[in-house]
Amino acid sequence: MSLVYLNGRFLPQEEAKISVLDRGFLLGDGIYEVIPVYHGRPFRLQQHLHRLEQNLAAVRLANPLDRDQWQSLFQHLIEHHGGGDLSLYLQVTRGVAQRDHAFPAETEPTVFAMCNPLPPPQELDQQSGVEAITLDDIRWRYCHIKTISLLPNVLLRQQAVDQGAAEAILIRDGRVTEGAASNVFVVRDGLLLTPPKSPNLLPGITRDLILELASGHGVPAREKDIPAEWLGQVDEIWLSSSTREIIPVVMLNGAPVGNGKPGPLWKHLSKIYRLYKEQLRHDTV
Ligand code: PDD
Repeated sequence: MSLVYLNGRFLPQEEAKISVLDRGFLLGDGIYEVIPVYHGRPFRLQQHLHRLEQNLAAVRLANPLDRDQWQSLFQHLIEHHGGGDLSLYLQVTRGVAQRDHAFPAETEPTVFAMCNPLPPPQELDQQSGVEAITLDDIRWRYCHIKTISLLPNVLLRQQAVDQGAAEAILIRDGRVTEGAASNVFVVRDGLLLTPPKSPNLLPGITRDLILELASGHGVPAREKDIPAEWLGQVDEIWLSSSTREIIPVVMLNGAPVGNGKPGPLWKHLSKIYRLYKEQLRHDTV
């Protein structure tokens, strides 16, 4: 039986129901987070909760729980699912009200959280790398907000899948922004580059950790705009996200990236990333 949290109660998933008038359902009016859990320990929890706070404030929703309350809610779900490697999902919507674009006068937010097994990152993706395509970034101008209104991201990812690729790398005004559900890194002349934080991309927790690990291990890295035309010339391209970690892109738009194999810097940094995860399992970070 999978246990979920809904509006103050823990209950079996089949019994968790929301109203058809929920603004998340009708208008996509809500915020979400995805937090990996290793060996029963949420990964970078404070950073995820900080981003949640920023996102809720950005859409003028009060945070329904404080950090301790979120933490104990997660702990309950994690324990119920037996610890181990999991993925926590939480969502806050503006609640139930008669449909109107403007905010309802007084409505309780809908608060939902669930916990699912976190499969280890695809062995094959990690060893062989994945294919990606570039697409025009058709999304709105607040991409730094982790909104549940994901239809553009869904359409972009599906377009990639339809073409046999794992991800769409998005281009706005001639520059790389991010993936449909990931951040993007490139390696050029020995330097690791990722676009700077801006409303054009989600400030990924994995992205920040990669920059932190690079700096701590002497890997030269910069936050820098990446012109789209560089993508055809760089030595390596990576994608990062909480659930998929760091994935090398070996083919872009049907042409090989570098020599068409996961590159040396990816091998180096993904090893450092794995070691960091292992330390978390033993509670030393
Ligand atoms: N998505 N950019 C977008 C558009 C994303 O959807 C995600 C992650 C990221 C990476 O962020 P982080 O490193 O914090 O996971 C960047 C999650 C995993 C999802 O929607 O399931």
